[in-house]
Amino acid sequence: MTTLPPAPVPGLPALAGLCSIPQATAPGLSVDHTVMRLKRLHAVARAAQRVLVARITDEPQYELKMLYSHHAWLLAELVTAIRGRVGEMREPPLGLEDPPPPALQLALDEIAASPDGTHLCAGLYTVLLPALDDACASLHADAHPLADAPTRYLLRHARLDLADLLAAGQQAAQALAAIAEPSTSWLEVVRTALAAAGGLDGTVADTVVCPTPRFSATPRPYDPVPRRDARFPDPYNMAVNAEAFIYDTSFPPEPKRLMLAYKRLREIDVPEMMASIITETEGKPWGYTRDMTRQLWDEARHAMMGEVLFADLGVDWPALVRVNFTWSLGLNTQIAALERHAVLYFIEQGLMPRHGKRYEWEVAQAAGSPLAINFQDYDWADEVLHARIGKQWYVSAMPSQTEALRAGDRAWSTVLMDYGAWQRDGLTQHENWWPALYADACRRLGWTHDPRVAAFNTSYAEQRADLKSVSHSG
Ligand SMILES: [Fe+2]
Ligand SMILES: [Fe+2]
Repeated sequence: MTTLPPAPVPGLPALAGLCSIPQATAPGLSVDHTVMRLKRLHAVARAAQRVLVARITDEPQYELKMLYSHHAWLLAELVTAIRGRVGEMREPPLGLEDPPPPALQLALDEIAASPDGTHLCAGLYTVLLPALDDACASLHADAHPLADAPTRYLLRHARLDLADLLAAGQQAAQALAAIAEPSTSWLEVVRTALAAAGGLDGTVADTVVCPTPRFSATPRPYDPVPRRDARFPDPYNMAVNAEAFIYDTSFPPEPKRLMLAYKRLREIDVPEMMASIITETEGKPWGYTRDMTRQLWDEARHAMMGEVLFADLGVDWPALVRVNFTWSLGLNTQIAALERHAVLYFIEQGLMPRHGKRYEWEVAQAAGSPLAINFQDYDWADEVLHARIGKQWYVSAMPSQTEALRAGDRAWSTVLMDYGAWQRDGLTQHENWWPALYADACRRLGWTHDPRVAAFNTSYAEQRADLKSVSHSG
C-alpha cells in the first residue's frame, strides 16, 4: 500500500520568506554590478574607519575619543562583512585595495585632512556616512531578493549599525557646531566631490565637475601626542600608584573600589596608544586591522567602565582624580609601533595569571559592589580575546613566545618616564590626590575613615607602572 504525499498547505511562506514570487520575477543587479557597488561602499567604510582610529590620540574631548573608538569598530565590522561577501562572489584578486575613482578619493581625502573634530564630525556624520547609508539602502533595493539574498542580509544588518552610528555622530556634530561652526563651503566641496564621483556608489549619471582639493591640499599627518580636555588638568601626575594600593592585602577592600575605578578610567591611554600602532603599521592583512580595532574598542569600554564606577560612587572625578596620559605619551613618542605592540602584549600577559584580572575581580567581590564585580568580570573576559589577538598578530611576527615577551619587557624598560624631570620642568607637582578623594568618599558614603588608608602615599617615582609583575593598562 502506497501512502499519498501530503497535499501542499495553503498559506505557507513562499521563497523561504524572502519575498513573493511576483517580487522575485523582476531581475535584479548582475554580480558584476553588485561587486562594483560593494567595493565603493568598502572604500568609504575603510577610509572612515581609518580616519576615526587616527584621530583618537590627538582629539582632546574624552567623549569623542570613546565615540571614535566605537564607530571605528562598527565600520571595521562592516568592512569585514563586505570583504567576505565580495570574496564569496569573485575569485582573487578581489581588487579591494584598489583606489576608488579620483572624485570619490578626493571626498575621502578631504575628510581625512579635516583640521579638527568639528570638521571631522560634520564631514563624516552629516555628509559621508549618510551617503554611505543611502548607498546601502539603494543597493538593498536593487539587489535581487532571492538571487542575492546574502548581500541583502549584509546590508540590512549594516544599516542597523549605521542608524546608531549616525544618531550619535550627528549629536556630536551638532554639539561641536554649537561652539564653532564648521565651514559650509568645505562641506560643499565634499558633497560636490561625491556628486562628481557619480554619487558614492557611482549610480548617478549627472556630470558634475570635480572640485579642487581644500584641506587635502595639505595632508594631515598622524599626531602621536595624546591630548585631553580640561577634565584632565594634570596629565603628568604620577603620584598615586593604584597597583601598589590594590595589591596590598593589608588595605581593606572598600576603598579599593576607588582605585579600580581610577585604573579603569585611566585606560583611555590604551586606545590612544593602540591608535598609533594601527595607524603606523603598514603591510598587514585586513584581519590585523579588524582585530586590533576590536581590542582598541574594548579598551575604550574599559575606560568608560571606570567613568561609570565613579558615577556609581558619586565621585566628581574631574575635581578629585588626576588621570594621567604618561603611558600613551611615552610609548607613542619614544618607541616604534612594533615595540609598542610588544609592550602591550607583555603587560597583557601579566594580567592573565593569578595576580591580574582575576585578582581585581576578587577585590570587587570582597568590596561587595555588584557593579564593580560585573565590570571586572567582563574586563577579565576581554583579556582572553586580547591574548589571542596578541598571539596571532604580534607573537607570530617574533621568533618565539619567549622572545616576544622578552622584547616587550625590554621595550617597556627603555621608555623613559621621567618623574623628577616633569616636576622640575613645572609640568606637574605630582600632587597626591588620594587623601582628598578618600575623605570625600568616606564623608558621602558613610565609610569608616581609616587613617592608614588616608595616609597612602606611594607614587610611580620608583616603580615602573607594572611593578615588574603587576599590571598597568591593558
Ligand atoms: Fe583593558
Ligand atoms: Fe586588554
